[in-house]
Amino acid sequence: MAKQLAHFSLLALAFCCLASACEPKPLQDFCVADPGSSVYVNGMVCKNPMDVQANDFYFSGLQLMANTSNPWGSRVTPVTVAQLPGLNTLGLSMIRIDYAPWGINPPHTHPRATEIITVIEGSIEVGFVTSDPGNRLITKVLYKGDVYVFPIGLVHFQRNVGNNNAVVIGALSSQNPGAITMGNAVFGSNPQISGEFLAKSFQVDKQLVDQIKAKF
Ligand SMILES: *[C@@H]1O[C@H](CO)[C@@H](O)[C@H](O)[C@H]1NC(C)=O
Repeated sequence: MAKQLAHFSLLALAFCCLASACEPKPLQDFCVADPGSSVYVNGMVCKNPMDVQANDFYFSGLQLMANTSNPWGSRVTPVTVAQLPGLNTLGLSMIRIDYAPWGINPPHTHPRATEIITVIEGSIEVGFVTSDPGNRLITKVLYKGDVYVFPIGLVHFQRNVGNNNAVVIGALSSQNPGAITMGNAVFGSNPQISGEFLAKSFQVDKQLVDQIKAKF
C-alpha cells in the first residue's frame, strides 16, 4: 500500500512537472507587471488591478525599421514583459527583427522559449542545431510569408540572403524569453573567462582568443 502510494506520488510529481514545462497558467485575469516593486518573485509583482489601464496591455512601434548599423547588420526589437507589462504571467512575447543586406543574427538560444517567425520582407536563411550528441544543422531559406520554428533552448541563427533589407516578425513562448548569444557569453563575459581556458576549449592559440575577445 505504502509502495503504491509512493508510486502514485511519483506519478503525480512527474505529471505536475510536465504540466509546468511551459509558463504556468495564470490564476487570475491578469497580473500587470509593477516594475517599481522591490519584491523578487518568479515573474514580476502584480500592479493593483484597479489601477490597470488599457495602455498596460499596449505597445506601439513594431512598424518601425530599427537601426541595423552594427557589425552584425541586424537588430531585434523586443516586445516582452519589459516593454509590455500586461504580458506578465501570460507566457508569450513578440519581436521584430530587421536585417541589412546580408546582415546576420548570430548564433544564440532562448533559455525559456520556443520561437516562431514569419518573413514580412526579403528572404532569409535560418538554421538551428540539435543538441549533443549529433549537433545536426537543420537549415532552410525562407521567403515572404514563410513561417519557421526554433525549438526551445536550441542554438539558432538567421541571415539575410538578399541585397535588400529583410524584416521578420516573431512570437516566443515566454513573457521573458532571455537570449544567450554564443559569442557574447563565451568571449564577452564580465569578468572574462580565462584566455588559456578558452584556447584549450576551442583548440586554438590564446592569441586568437584574445583577438576574438577584443571584438566583444
Ligand atoms: C544608427 O546607428 C549608428 C551606430 O550607432 C549611428 O552612427 C547612426 O547615427 C544611427 N542612424 C540613425 C538614423 O539613427
